[in-house]
Amino acid sequence: MDKEQKNILITGVAGFIGSNLLDYLIEETNWTITGVDNLSTGNQDNIAEHLTNNRLTFIEQTCAEISSLKEYDYVFHLAALPRIQPSFEAIAEHIDANLNQAIHLIELMIKENHFPRLIYSGSSAAYGTPTQIPTPETERIDCLSPYAFQKYEFEKYLELIATRYPLDFVTLRYFNPYGNRSFNPKNSFNAYSSVVGIFLNRKKEGKPLLVTGDGSQKRDFVHVLDLAKANYLAAIHPEKLNTAFNVGYGDTTSILDLAKMIDGDRYEFIDKREGEAEITFADTSKIEKMLNWKPGLKLEDYISQTLNK
Ligand SMILES: NC(=O)c1ccc[n+]([C@@H]2O[C@H](COP(=O)([O-])OP(=O)(O)OC[C@H]3O[C@@H](n4cnc5c(N)ncnc54)[C@H](O)[C@@H]3O)[C@@H](O)[C@H]2O)c1
Repeated sequence: MDKEQKNILITGVAGFIGSNLLDYLIEETNWTITGVDNLSTGNQDNIAEHLTNNRLTFIEQTCAEISSLKEYDYVFHLAALPRIQPSFEAIAEHIDANLNQAIHLIELMIKENHFPRLIYSGSSAAYGTPTQIPTPETERIDCLSPYAFQKYEFEKYLELIATRYPLDFVTLRYFNPYGNRSFNPKNSFNAYSSVVGIFLNRKKEGKPLLVTGDGSQKRDFVHVLDLAKANYLAAIHPEKLNTAFNVGYGDTTSILDLAKMIDGDRYEFIDKREGEAEITFADTSKIEKMLNWKPGLKLEDYISQTLNK
């Protein structure tokens, strides 16, 4: 347990990854946590067990309404509308949530001349269909959706603004997170949540799993608590990093194999979705070397534990 006293902010705390990060930090640290969420895709039920904990202050607001970051040592920025297909439709809304509201945080830091470390949840979507497998952080950028572009744009702003101001940031490019609460039955955006959560939910409802395309597309699935640990290690690293790290398991599973793993042969094929990569596969050597992070949780174990509950 980390006994240090730190004051931190988590944006998007009521979402899938934010709520798991909250669980992790409540358990592993002694930090005082402010969580902000506008509940657009998130759900207060995700953090219900901590609402009475005096180490957490939850504020229902958008990031644009945050008026000061002065009291924080670290800011974990997770708030976003992380959906590929809707980002083609409600374009301005996604630019606002994924880029402008993040820029607001940087403007506050500059205005207050206070630069808490910003741990930014970026995305491997920036690589599109990569040319290098496994994919290192030096891969060329090839955004296939407005969402991927907005997430990457903010990374680029961080780099550019850090040339003029003493920004202290770390970008974590997540591959394919899965874990508890990835599927929220109340969330209308569920069609875009982790395929692991969607498949487990279909099985629970006794419905056949729907495999897009021929199911040969491969994903690097990483457990959400391993992501939480990467966030923690990025925050406490003693030196300024100002760089991006891949966070994946460092192995791949095809969607068809995943379907078979969850429900034998009860699956059906549906149309392929445009704008999605054929393969995601992280080269994790940079984060392993610089942050001493390694994924600890296996997809097969999570699936069998969830199915046996
Ligand atoms: N889940 C993934 O597959 C994945 C992959 C790569 C990167 N990411 C990134 O990780 C972060 C968290 O994603 P998630 O899967 O937990 O998504 P999520 O939708 O479950 O959580 C996002 C949270 O942010 C909140 N939010 C949205 N806009 C907001 C705003 N303007 N102000 C305040 N709160 C706002 C939502 O209500 C929600 O609770 C995002 O930045 C996303 O881009 C996710």
